[in-house]
Amino acid sequence: MYIRETLFAIISTFIFHLIWKWKRFFYLASKIPRSQFDFSWQGVKDVINADNRIAFKMIYESFDGIDGLAKTWLGPMLFVIISSPEDVKIVMNSRDCFDKPYFVRWPGSIPKGSLFGSLDYWHKHRKILDPYFGQQKLKKFATLFDEKSKILTGNVAQKLNQGDFDIFHYMTALTLEIILNAMELDVDIQNLETKLRDVTIKGLETASKLVAIRMFKFWLHPDFIYKRTKMYIDETKAKSYAYTYAEDVIDNIRKKLNDDIDEEDKPTTFMRALMSPKFNLSESEISDEIKTLLVAAQDTTGISMSATLLLLAMHKDKQAKVIDEMHRVIGNNPDIPFTDFDKLNELHYLEMVINEALRLMPVVPFVFRSVDSEITSHEGYIIPPNANLIIPIFKIQRNKTFWGEDADKFRPERFEKENIKKVNSYAFLPFTRGPRMCLGWRYAMMLMKIQLCNFLVRYEVDTSLKYEELEFELNVTLNICQGFKISIKERNI
Ligand code: HEM
Repeated sequence: MYIRETLFAIISTFIFHLIWKWKRFFYLASKIPRSQFDFSWQGVKDVINADNRIAFKMIYESFDGIDGLAKTWLGPMLFVIISSPEDVKIVMNSRDCFDKPYFVRWPGSIPKGSLFGSLDYWHKHRKILDPYFGQQKLKKFATLFDEKSKILTGNVAQKLNQGDFDIFHYMTALTLEIILNAMELDVDIQNLETKLRDVTIKGLETASKLVAIRMFKFWLHPDFIYKRTKMYIDETKAKSYAYTYAEDVIDNIRKKLNDDIDEEDKPTTFMRALMSPKFNLSESEISDEIKTLLVAAQDTTGISMSATLLLLAMHKDKQAKVIDEMHRVIGNNPDIPFTDFDKLNELHYLEMVINEALRLMPVVPFVFRSVDSEITSHEGYIIPPNANLIIPIFKIQRNKTFWGEDADKFRPERFEKENIKKVNSYAFLPFTRGPRMCLGWRYAMMLMKIQLCNFLVRYEVDTSLKYEELEFELNVTLNICQGFKISIKERNI
C-alpha cells in the first residue's frame, strides 16, 4: 500500500513538473515579440523551394526591422532571434547558452569535434587546443603560410591579362593544403591533379549544403526518417569525398610520430596534442576533431581572402592605399618572405580592409545556440530553456543603427581607432565573441595577411563585377552568386 502511494506521488510530481515546465515555456515564449520571419509551413516551403539566392534574400529580408529580440516557430521548435549587441553580449558570455541546438550536430552527420560536439566534448577539446592557437605558437606556421601563398601567386600567373576568373578555387586549394600541412601531412594540393582536389572540395561544399537544407526540413530531423531518404545517401557520399584526407592525416602522423609521441611531455603542435596519450582521446575523438578542423579552416578563410580581393578590385582607391602601406612597410619585392611579425603587425590599413570585408561578407552569416536555463535579455524578456537562438551576424554587421547610414558601403576607415571605439564591439562578429568564439581566428588573420601581401605586391586586381550588383547565396557558409571574379595584371613597381 505504502509503495503504491509513493509511486503515485512520484509520478504525479513528475507529471506536474512537466506540465508546469511546458506551461512556463509557452508563457515566456508568448511574451517575446513575434518576428515577420515566417517559419510556418508555407514559410518553410517557400524557403526550401526557392533557389539558394532567393532563400538567402527571403531570410535576410525577414530580419528587417528587428533591433532587439523576436521569436518565430519552426514546427514545434521555438527560435529567438538575437539582434542587438547588448543581447549578443549576454548570449555569447552566458554558460547557459554555450551549447548548440541538436540539429547542428546530428549523429554521423557532422563530426563531433569542438565545433559541434556536446558541451562536455567541446570543453575537453577546446582546453586541449586553445594553447596551440595563440600568436606565439602560431608563429611557426608563418613560413608555411608564406611558401604556400607563393605557390598560389605562381599558379595564377597563367591568368595574367586574361580577364575575369574565379579566385575562390585557388584559395580553397591553398587553405586545404595549408591546414593539411599544419597537421603534418606533407601534401601538395595546389599542384595536384585537379580532379581529386575538386572532388574533395566539392564534397565539403555539397555536404554543408545538405546539412543546411535538412535544418529547414524539420520532419527530416529524426535520424530514422532521414536515413531512408536520398538526401542521406547523397550526404554520405559527399562526406566520404570531403574527408578523403582525414584518415591519411591520422595514419601518416601515427607512422611519423610512432613511439616518440609517448615521450613528448609538452606536445609542440595541435596535431601532436590531439594524438598525445597525455590527453587520452579515443580514435573517434581524434578523427572527429581532425575533420572539424578541416571543415572549419578551409572554406572560411578561402572565402574571406577571395572576398577581400574582390572588394579591393571593386574599390581601386582603397587598393592604392593598401599598396602604399605595403611598399612602405614590407617593400615591393614579391620574392622575399613575408613572415616578419613586427612588420605584419604594422600593416594597419590592410587589417582594416580585412575587417571591413569580414563585416560586409561574414562567412558564417548566422550562428545558432541553445538555451539550457532561463536567461534574461537586456530589455527584461526571459528566454526559456530549450529555445534555439539565432544570431544573424550578416544582418547585425550591416545594421545602420550600429554602423551608420553608410553601413552597406565598403569603407575600411570605419575601423580606424577613433571611429571603431564608437561602435559596440558585439556588433562586429565575424569570429563571434566569448568562450566559444572561433578557435582559429588568429591563424586565419595571419594567413590572410601573409597571403594578401604576396598577392597584392605582385598583382594589380580588377573586376567587371559591380559592388551594388552582388548577390548572396544561402549555405552553411556565405557565398556570392556571381563568384569571386577578378582579373589580374602584373603590378608596376
Ligand atoms: C576567416 C576565417 C574564419 C572565420 C570567419 C571563422 C568563423 C567562425 C565562427 C563564426 C565560428 C562559430 C563561433 C560560435 O559558435 O560562436 C567559428 C568556430 C570555430 N572555428 Fe572558425 N572561422 C575562421 C577560420 C577558422 C580556422 C582557420 C580554424 C582552424 C584552424 C577555425 C576553427 C574553428 C573552430 C574549431 C570553431 C569551434 C569553436 C568552438 O565552438 O569552441 N576557424 N569560426
